[in-house]
Amino acid sequence: MTASSRLALRGDLLDFTGTPAWGALDDPAVRFRPDHWLLIEDGRIVGAQAEDPDARWTREDHRGRLILPGFIDTHVHCPQLDVIASYGAELLDWLNTYTFPAEQRYADPAVARGGAERFLDALLAHGTTAAMVFPTVHKVSAETLFEAARQRGMRLLTGKVLMDRHAPDGLRDDVDQARRDCEDLIRRFHGQDRLGYAVTVRFAPTSTPAQLAMAGDLCRQDASLYMQTHVAENRAEVEWVAKLFPEARSYLDVYDRVGLLHERAVLAHGIWLDAQDRALLAQRGAQLAFCPSSNLFLGSGLFDWVAAREAGFAVSVASDVGGGTSLSTQRSLGDAYKVQALAGRRMTAWAGLHAATLGAAQGLGLSHEIGHLGVGTLADVCIWDWARGPVAEARFAVARELHEKVFAWMTLSDERNLAAAFVAGVARHRRPDPLPHP
Ligand code: GUN
Ligand code: ZN
Repeated sequence: MTASSRLALRGDLLDFTGTPAWGALDDPAVRFRPDHWLLIEDGRIVGAQAEDPDARWTREDHRGRLILPGFIDTHVHCPQLDVIASYGAELLDWLNTYTFPAEQRYADPAVARGGAERFLDALLAHGTTAAMVFPTVHKVSAETLFEAARQRGMRLLTGKVLMDRHAPDGLRDDVDQARRDCEDLIRRFHGQDRLGYAVTVRFAPTSTPAQLAMAGDLCRQDASLYMQTHVAENRAEVEWVAKLFPEARSYLDVYDRVGLLHERAVLAHGIWLDAQDRALLAQRGAQLAFCPSSNLFLGSGLFDWVAAREAGFAVSVASDVGGGTSLSTQRSLGDAYKVQALAGRRMTAWAGLHAATLGAAQGLGLSHEIGHLGVGTLADVCIWDWARGPVAEARFAVARELHEKVFAWMTLSDERNLAAAFVAGVARHRRPDPLPHP
């Protein structure tokens, strides 16, 4: 029998035990355990305590640092790291000018493999330990992502992108081949290790009605499959969908008619939804990924989070790189705060951090595994400096209340604050030591 591995991490533990009320600064759903040891055995969290653990535990002392559950990015595109920060276009131009050419390169297995590895290492270096990811239309791009995630022990949801029209050469599939590819990938990867298959419809304009029906059929045949797509992001896109699908009541209805809206569905953006759409999302139990960095960068619009809460569907916060300009969840949350502020609303640090951890995990049906520091979950945890650099340090020094501190951290920090990222109790990223002076 092999000896079990025991690891204890010391720091200020912060996570959520429920959903914080909108606007509440002092909320019972916030669990803050300052200067505690987080106990990890064989990759799982087994407890937390203020007392020093005994000599059976390997101890890492991060006193004075913040320990959070790893972030969950519910909407991000692997191949688009190559086009992040591309100038001057709204969605449809941006896809044609920058994104599709970058995705064409993923037909080459070597490009796909290298891209998947670089992408997952970048997620980890930003404190994101789990993600729902768009690769490209090429089967190999999903295979290489699954394999690279498996090597890193990460929770990853992905699936080959479906697109059989309105896309350039080299980026279109067809219904029969796409179905065969999906079925093969599902058989080989779905439910294996920490991998899950997501039926991945790029968006309504790039799939024929026959392909959308096939995607819905896959979801109906296996209720454990995830689904990811885009919806109602940009006004020109919404008008285009109305022309392509005149029989549908709305853009969202295009997906509902074929059975793509369900409890494991994640739809990105949803800026231009109406009240009936919002009620439908709640009824179907689907999750919406709010992508504020992308929405600002591509000039798409301002997501109405309060209307989402009132309608009762789950909202997570996602980077949407390369439409978004950073993989940093703190930067996305900073943008989310500003988008809500423009509507005269205030997003607390609790609402933001909850959406990027426990809220996202619950929306994916994965809160038994990720999203908080509760006993029994896998130890996907990140260790952060509270403040780095003179500006943040000065601000932190005068912050008094817990919310004030965490809000300043959320607003001023980024991946440079990350000291280490653990996946199932294994350190998969550590900040390199600064170079010694010559
Ligand atoms: N809609 C369809 N494809 C995409 C994409 O790659 N990024 C964004 N932001 N929206 C999309
Ligand atoms: Zn996207």
